[in-house]
Amino acid sequence: MNEKKLYIETYGCQMNFSDSEIVASILRDNDYSLTADVKEANLILVNTCSIREKAEERVWKRLRELRSLKKRNPQLKIGVIGCMAERLHDKLLAPEHGVDLVAGPDAYRTLPYLVDQTAAGAQAANIQLSLEETYADIEPVRLDPSGVTAFVSIMRGCDNFCAYCVVPFTRGRERSRNPQTIVDEVKHLFEKGYRDVTLLGQNVNSYHFTEGNTSVGFPELLARVASVDPRLRVRFTTSHPKDLSDSLIKVIAAHPNICRSIHLAVQSGSNEVLRRMNRKYTREWFLDRVRSIRQHIPDCTLSTDIIAGFCGETEEDHQQTLSLMDEVRFDAAFMFRYSEREGTIAAKKYKDDVPDEVKARRLQEIIDLQHKHSLASNRADVGKIFEVLAEGFSKRSNGMLSGRNSQNKVIVFKAENVKPGDYVNVRITGCTAATLIGEQVSQ
Ligand code: SAH
Ligand code: SF4
Ligand code: F3S
Repeated sequence: MNEKKLYIETYGCQMNFSDSEIVASILRDNDYSLTADVKEANLILVNTCSIREKAEERVWKRLRELRSLKKRNPQLKIGVIGCMAERLHDKLLAPEHGVDLVAGPDAYRTLPYLVDQTAAGAQAANIQLSLEETYADIEPVRLDPSGVTAFVSIMRGCDNFCAYCVVPFTRGRERSRNPQTIVDEVKHLFEKGYRDVTLLGQNVNSYHFTEGNTSVGFPELLARVASVDPRLRVRFTTSHPKDLSDSLIKVIAAHPNICRSIHLAVQSGSNEVLRRMNRKYTREWFLDRVRSIRQHIPDCTLSTDIIAGFCGETEEDHQQTLSLMDEVRFDAAFMFRYSEREGTIAAKKYKDDVPDEVKARRLQEIIDLQHKHSLASNRADVGKIFEVLAEGFSKRSNGMLSGRNSQNKVIVFKAENVKPGDYVNVRITGCTAATLIGEQVSQ
């Protein structure tokens, strides 16, 4: 029996999840079928993330576990793909790790060829980055079993070079995907029953596609995607504050099916830190963008990313972050302690000089404050009625459904005769800082 069975495991951001779907599609066209059982696979691919040291440590640990599967199945091949493959290809291919192939984010079309190369026991690698690759013509295999929500990649790479960030090195230059292929993919998803799509890019605001005399920017793309069907919810992530224009905000305001939630990573509330981070905006600019969002889209929630303890961050800088959080009152946040990445601008230019325990304490203060804000935001929703798109059954509460509202809040609710993909009116009856709880409003 020589069946080709692929097991794929994904770490990191949504773009990696979307890439795994592209990889699955490429290999399916080469006679691989997907398996959910790692022991059954003869090809294991680990799609990896390099954003912080911890992300890489998790993958190294997982590779040690996977390597042991080779004892029982000598035919098994293990491949590392994604950002770590791009960054650490040589290290990964050291014989003790048991890795047979590495492929960087722009090399996925060559995966069938790389796998063939390993058949006779050789190692294979392709980490070439590209200026054009967008996988525009590849119809991803949807790995999310819900059949309701899907990610659609609209651009690749990043040219921003924020000082702390490894992404411009692992993903290469920014390039935008042909808008027609995006709209076609979204139409197809809608026809298959999907009701919530998220357009993905490291900085979707700088999406820009030109060909001949067509030129399409993000506001226009978003409007075209939203026009596919009013019953389709459209989200996007992530927006860079420096490029968040009023024209984009107005497009969102004009389309009720573009979700009322914007992720806008602030990173720090201190102008001095923002300057060293190379974020290219100030605290005042950020607050002005928030003001404009709230003016045009009053029911919009805001989420953010914050880094604690970047190079040279003083106690005063940290206080500025806390005070910005108090001013904005984000509905949700991802919060991290700074982790130096080799090769980045910060690693070359600045000293990682905030002691670990200070980073930890500042991060904890940020987390505690955010918890307060998230809880207050959710409490303010108790008693309200939202239209919720049911995505599936709640993992924790038996018989309850789970879904999100336009504001991207997770809602666990009681309902009858509702299936994933249905819209339901839900009255909020309670909450935690992370979840709203409710029940279907009787018709
Ligand atoms: N392109 C997105 C961010 C992608 S990375 C944007 O600019 O909004 C996701 C988040 O990881 C970043 O927003 C940042 O908060 C965090 N991050 C990136 N590099 C980091 C590092 N070296 N240490 C700690 N956090 C980091
Ligand atoms: Fe990294 Fe900055 Fe690009 Fe985001 S915008 S991926 S933080 S370099
Ligand atoms: Fe990680 Fe690469 Fe995404 S470093 S966050 S998987 S772009």
